[in-house]
Parts: sequence; structure tokens; C-alpha cells
Amino acid sequence: MSTSATRIRKAVFPVAGFGTRFLPATKAQPKEMLPVVDKPLIQYAVEEAYAAGIRDMIFVTGRNKRAIEDHYDTAYELESQLEASGKTALLNIARSVMPDDMTCSYVRQPRMLGLGHAVLCAEHLVGNEPFAVLLADDLMVGPDGGQPVLAQMTEAFGRLGGSLLAVQEVPLAHVKRYGIVAGDAIEEGLVKVSRMVEKPKPEEAPSRLGVAGRYILTPGVFDEIRNQPKGAGGEIQLTDGIAALMKKESVYAYSYKGIRYDCGSKEGFLQASVELALAHPEVGADFREYLKSLKL
Ligand code: UTP
Repeated sequence: MSTSATRIRKAVFPVAGFGTRFLPATKAQPKEMLPVVDKPLIQYAVEEAYAAGIRDMIFVTGRNKRAIEDHYDTAYELESQLEASGKTALLNIARSVMPDDMTCSYVRQPRMLGLGHAVLCAEHLVGNEPFAVLLADDLMVGPDGGQPVLAQMTEAFGRLGGSLLAVQEVPLAHVKRYGIVAGDAIEEGLVKVSRMVEKPKPEEAPSRLGVAGRYILTPGVFDEIRNQPKGAGGEIQLTDGIAALMKKESVYAYSYKGIRYDCGSKEGFLQASVELALAHPEVGADFREYLKSLKL
């Protein structure tokens, strides 16, 4: 059982980015509202946090992100219409987006000054306690019959008490797309991090452990982010804040069990759409037949 000092109660969702890789789809709507089959990306991430026992969801938003706030609100006209016409199953789907015991808070990131800056914008809502950060464009699917990824991490945090970064082994040719970490293995699937390099060339990568968009961070990270010199374009990187935290506290790389789809890229988004459609209880079987009929 986790104690109150090690229980994660709050999750931060940085959703202020422009999602330029999905233009024109993201010209007037947030990338986090793009649906994979029938659910927007942000809902997969919020459900993952909820499954890890978190009830306090904090969104770091920006211009054009109203749709996210509306998604986590009552849809009066829609709900009363469904209720009046007796469409209970659909009504339940609409209502289940926002469970009664969940609260949502919003803070604006007034300028896109990087992921580190976005996390810092949530400091006053997080306060002095450990918290989770989820990047909704990484859609994580836990192993069959196993725990979702963030729940695996909150459990590990309960044992270790230090910050955790979700990592996966990536092909050498892909290390330049990731933050890469290295350090000493302390147990199966767990490395105490001593080095972090952002998007290295393959020949300079200290390992093939790439960071995915799930973090559990201790509140000490806020000071470290704040004290970072600004990078190119005034950006403040989360990686730099974590690298500074590592000099004062233990930071662990946690090899999660499950699959990550990089839905910030078109390829990853399409892969997630196909694979989640195949697994979907309503459309999966017919969709499989359809795919088989294609002459590829
Ligand atoms: P990305 O760089 O992958 O997202 O940032 P983006 O900028 O929205 O997408 P592209 O590259 O233009 O297509 C990773 C995550 O960090 C958030 C983004 O919303 C995304 O979820 N982010 C990034 C912020 O909230 N604020 C920032 O200043 C930067």
C-alpha cells in the first residue's frame, strides 16, 4: 500500500502545442482531440491516469483548446436529447468521459516556451507533492490482461520514492527522435539514470533507452526547470530540468510493459488507428475481414 507521501494524486497533461505535423487537421482543433477509432487521444491518457488512481487532472492548455474543456464538461443538449429518446447506452458513453469523482483544472501556457515551461505553468496547482505527467500524443496500451502503463509506474514509485521516466528500447536508427537515458541497472527493467541526452546521433547515443511520454516527478523538479537557461527560441526543456534534478535526487528509467504509439506523427497515428480498430469489440471483426480483402 502506498503512503500519502508516495501516492500520486495529480496528473498534468501538457496540451498547449500547435500539433503542426497534423496540419491542416489541427488548424482550428487541438491535436489531442483527434480520435483513434472513437475516442480522442486526450481521453486515452486521462483514462490511463484514472486507472492509476489519479482523480485530479490538470491540463496546461493554450489558444484553440476549448474543445478539451468542453469534452470534460456536461453536454446538456446532447445528454437531454439522448435521455429523451431513451438512448441509454449512448448517454452512458457520453457521461462516462467525466466520472463524478474526477476533477479537472486548467491553466494556460501563454506562450509556447517548451515542455519544461508547460509543466512549470502547473506548479501552483500541483503544489509540493509528486505528480504524473502524461503526453497525450503518446498513446500507451498496457499488456493483454495487465496493468496500464501509468499504473505500473505509480506502483514502482510507491516502492522507490524517486522520479521515474517511462522508457523503451528503440532501434539505433531512431535514437535521434528521443531523449536517451543511461545508467546502472538496479533490477530487471529499472535503471538508475546518470546520463540523459536529447535526440543524439546514433554514434553518440549512450544507450537505446528512449523516453516515452509518461513521467512521475517529485516537486523538486519545478526549481530545476525554473533555473534552466533558456534554449533556442526561449524554450525550456523538461529533459534539462530532469537532468539537473538527477544531480540531487535519484531518477529512474522504468521499462514499461506495453506498446506505445507515437500519435504525434502520422505513421504512429495510423498504426494506432489500425491496431485499435482490430481490437475494438464493435468493429474489430468486420474491419479484419475488410483489411484481408485489400490487395496490398
Ligand atoms: P510536441 O513538440 O511533440 O508537440 O510536444 P507539438 O508542438 O504540439 O507538435 P508538432 O511537433 O508541432 O506537430 C510534446 C507535447 O508537449 C506539449 C505538446 O502539446 C505535446 O503534447 N507542449 C510542448 C506544450 O504543452 N507546450 C510547449 O511549449 C511545448
